[in-house]
Amino acid sequence: MISILVWMIALVALFIHRRQFRMSILQRHGIPGPKPNLWWGNLFEYLKTPNVEWDSQLVEKYGPVCGYYMGAKPVILLAEPSLIHTIQTNHDFLDRPRRVPGGINPDPKRAKMLGNLGVSDWKNLRGILDKAFSPQKLKGMSHHVAALVNVFMSRIAPNDDVSINFYPLYQDLTLDLIGKTGFGLDSDIQMNPNDELKKAVDQEFSKSTGTFLLKLFLCFPEIQCVLQPIRVLLEKAKHWMGFGGHSELWNLGRNAVLQRKNQPQADATDLLQVMLDSGRLDETSIVANSVLFFEAGFETLSAGLAFITYLMIKHPEVQEDVRNEIRDILKGSGGKMDCFHLKQFRILDAAIQEALRMFPPQTTFIGRSGSSAIHREYSWKGQQLKCIIPANVHVQVGLYQILNSDEIWESPRRYNPDRFQPGTTLNQEQSFAFQPFGNGKRMCIGKKYADMALKMLLVPLLSKYKLVRSDETEDDISVIYKTATMTPKKGVFGKPVADPLFPEEELHDV
Ligand code: HEM
Repeated sequence: MISILVWMIALVALFIHRRQFRMSILQRHGIPGPKPNLWWGNLFEYLKTPNVEWDSQLVEKYGPVCGYYMGAKPVILLAEPSLIHTIQTNHDFLDRPRRVPGGINPDPKRAKMLGNLGVSDWKNLRGILDKAFSPQKLKGMSHHVAALVNVFMSRIAPNDDVSINFYPLYQDLTLDLIGKTGFGLDSDIQMNPNDELKKAVDQEFSKSTGTFLLKLFLCFPEIQCVLQPIRVLLEKAKHWMGFGGHSELWNLGRNAVLQRKNQPQADATDLLQVMLDSGRLDETSIVANSVLFFEAGFETLSAGLAFITYLMIKHPEVQEDVRNEIRDILKGSGGKMDCFHLKQFRILDAAIQEALRMFPPQTTFIGRSGSSAIHREYSWKGQQLKCIIPANVHVQVGLYQILNSDEIWESPRRYNPDRFQPGTTLNQEQSFAFQPFGNGKRMCIGKKYADMALKMLLVPLLSKYKLVRSDETEDDISVIYKTATMTPKKGVFGKPVADPLFPEEELHDV
């Protein structure tokens, strides 16, 4: 009996010793941060504070290389541009660790999504999916974008007195865009509020993720092998009982795959066709990545459009410059707007870049972990400091912090598109920091698509309307910080005042 007791005490002591070792990894590698509780790290403080605010407080207090513990999981937060650049261009740092091992949503199908794959599988899939964003494919998609933008324009009722909320209109447009150009779905969300794709996406985005099991899982990774199957089983049970589990969006994705297989469309330019043509992806993988594109593209693109619109409304002088540029370019092209010519809109481009700097829609998603350690010296507040980024630890880029740091940018909260005008060059620190779409091999796959869609919407909108303030326009836009994105909280209000740069019949898309 006594020997059993002695063994038990020894085992508990060993466990505590190992735990203390685990919970001191950041400190041992010269990475400062709030003191972690032995059992739950900083999880509860983290969950109490909106994530971007939490990250900002940490960088402010502990410097540009700091860290904390999500339960027992160490996270290193980086707001030091040159170290970020080193990591993003290092071939040993290609892995994107999941925030929660096994996923916030434990559905095993989600492990097949591009953003969740281990390095070697990710390389194969990225090689396939990149083909969907070649210039030729984007050109093919641009016709659908133009058609859906026309539907958007038909929803704008010009009225000098009536204020409209642009954000929900952008959300509808973005869903139609991804549905059509991604999967050939003929959704009609912009005109039909009961469209099944809209309901499916609403359901997907309203899932609750902060369960007790998830917190336990984060605090005790040692029992991962027991807890993960329980989490998966509960997810399946929810599905069987008809609440939660895999959703209508997955069903719509599966139907789109089946329909395309039954009625092949070899000339389709969408992402679905690219995945089918590869001949290397099973049905689950195709559907999982369809869902991912909705998740990764919907909030980012619609919020991006909303933030830019807000800044245009608030800064009529910038809007005027952009409209003059649109007038000059379209006059030169006989009113034609071609996706290959979008690069000419340099002033518009600068206005967009600066908006994405101030309000990066994707905030906390740029994560990496490496297979080797990086030793580094850096300076902070006049001190020369040393740190080691250990292998296999989640490194998160403090994107909002580097894009809004007054050590990197002059007057960062001032909307100043001149920073990105042709002829102005960013210094090295700024060029490493400016990455609203991420950087390196794992940067956003949808960047070119997003760039095309942003301009293909803003050019016709601003060529027809001057956007002006209304009583509901916020002086400082309020935002919500979600798991990985930031979006407008109340929306973006303003008045579209008819002020066409061209007679109606002169403006067309090709
Ligand atoms: C304004 C719009 C968008 C912004 C600001 C944005 C931003 C980002 C960022 C910051 C990342 C992480 C990059 C990194 O880790 O270096 C990312 C990844 C990703 N984005 Fe976007 N994104 C946008 C639109 C889109 C769209 C429209 C799609 C789909 C069509 C998309 C699909 C993805 C995917 C699949 C990944 C994961 C890539 C990988 O792991 O290889 N994004 N995005």
